[in-house]
Amino acid sequence: MVSTPTAVPATPADTGRPDSVGTAASVSPSVAADPLLQRLAGAPVPRHIAIIMDGNGRWARERHMPRPFGHRAGMKAVRAVVEASIAAGVEWLSLFAFSQENWQRPVTEISALMSLLEEYVASEIDELRAQGVRVRVHGDLTRLDAAAGRAVQRAVAETAHCTRLGLNLFISYGGRAELVRAMQQIAEDVARGALRPGAITEDVIRSRLYTEDCPDPDLLIRTSGERRLSNFMLWQVAYAELYISGALWPDFDRAALYEAILDFQRRDRRFGKVAK
Ligand code: FPP
Repeated sequence: MVSTPTAVPATPADTGRPDSVGTAASVSPSVAADPLLQRLAGAPVPRHIAIIMDGNGRWARERHMPRPFGHRAGMKAVRAVVEASIAAGVEWLSLFAFSQENWQRPVTEISALMSLLEEYVASEIDELRAQGVRVRVHGDLTRLDAAAGRAVQRAVAETAHCTRLGLNLFISYGGRAELVRAMQQIAEDVARGALRPGAITEDVIRSRLYTEDCPDPDLLIRTSGERRLSNFMLWQVAYAELYISGALWPDFDRAALYEAILDFQRRDRRFGKVAK
């Protein structure tokens, strides 16, 4: 199915895409007029893009600045990519903002990242809501400090009615831990007789993941030239097209996103079948 840039999905979880071109009212004119955006028209745009945002630390180091300086610049890139995704008609955007392994970073960096999360919610929530962005946050949120936890709850609650773009923020997240959580839930159902082992299917497992109501990512982008999955969305990216960008995350902008989508549009997705 072909999606048109600026198309507005009726609801992010819909299986079909609307044919109509929606209003670009909340997309800035400079984005709507972007020639790269026009080049995306006429070929399918990924419904769901997942991004491993990497390279903030190196970006800061290149400027002889502390790592949190790079994370702050990375927050601006998040803003640009959200807006560009909406303009392109992407329905879901999944961002890896903080991994379980990131808890092992220096306390000062962790607390800078948590403060940035609070700041992101405080400064962006109105705009996100105006743009129709529904924020969801996935991961072991019990480890967040109280203020960060409140920010997360606020972002989710205040955008729950939005339907234009589903923004999944993965925080304190690990793909294996997500699978363990799903298996534990399934084992509990089996133990109390609510589920037969033979009735465990891929759909049952999918229904226990954080992303149970999203389609799997079509495109997985990693920045900074690294070529690892780093425990991100391990189940969901089974058939995602991979795109490695050499840009450090703070330099990843609208044009970089559209280049990734153009590259995706040239791929031959066979899902294990033979080419027609
Ligand atoms: C990886 O770069 C990036 C992170 C661990 C944090 C990502 C956070 C942001 C982009 C800003 C906050 C975002 C939101 C949504 C509030 P790195 O530090 O591992 O970079 P390096 O590999 O160069 O050291």
